[in-house]
Amino acid sequence: MLTRAFISTALWTLSFCGTRQFHVVNVNKNWTDAQKYCREKFTDLATIESKEEMNALLVGVIGTEGLFWIGLSQNVEQNIWIWSDVSNFSYRYWNTGEPNNPVGDVCVILWNPSTYRWNDLSFYYLHPFICYKPLGGNSCLLCLHC
Ligand SMILES: *[C@@H]1O[C@H](CO)[C@@H](O)[C@H](O)[C@H]1NC(C)=O
Ligand SMILES: *[C@@H]1O[C@H](CO)[C@@H](O)[C@H](O)[C@H]1NC(C)=O
Repeated sequence: MLTRAFISTALWTLSFCGTRQFHVVNVNKNWTDAQKYCREKFTDLATIESKEEMNALLVGVIGTEGLFWIGLSQNVEQNIWIWSDVSNFSYRYWNTGEPNNPVGDVCVILWNPSTYRWNDLSFYYLHPFICYKPLGGNSCLLCLHC
């Protein structure tokens, strides 16, 4: 089990033998700045296209008290949700009753009191976040499905 002490370092890495390696960045930023940081240092904010990816990501955050930005945000004009890297949005892990504020809450955060399900939230709040980069070769550190 990964502990809270472990996550208190600024940055650590986990991955699974899939397509994405997730990086938990334990620095508080608003969604826009988190996206910028992920695009500079990695590939983008976390995109989650399957239950396997969501489970891999959960290993890194369960047991922590943080709420973590992921790369999902709303195109308000078209009333659709899009991943920051424009991957296919078909997998969903919304908390019960979410998304519940189509006007003000245009970004998505893992909400820890509800076992890190997705919750819509306004972009200006400062929270840690999760980036990803493509997983190449056998570079897994933590493999859930090897
Ligand atoms: C998106 O993913 C779903 C489920 O896997 C699939 O049915 C659909 O065809 C995909 N859409 C695109 C545009 O790839
Ligand atoms: C996000 O944070 C940056 C840096 O503190 C700030 O310049 C920017 O205005 C913030 N953006 C929003 C939308 O709050």
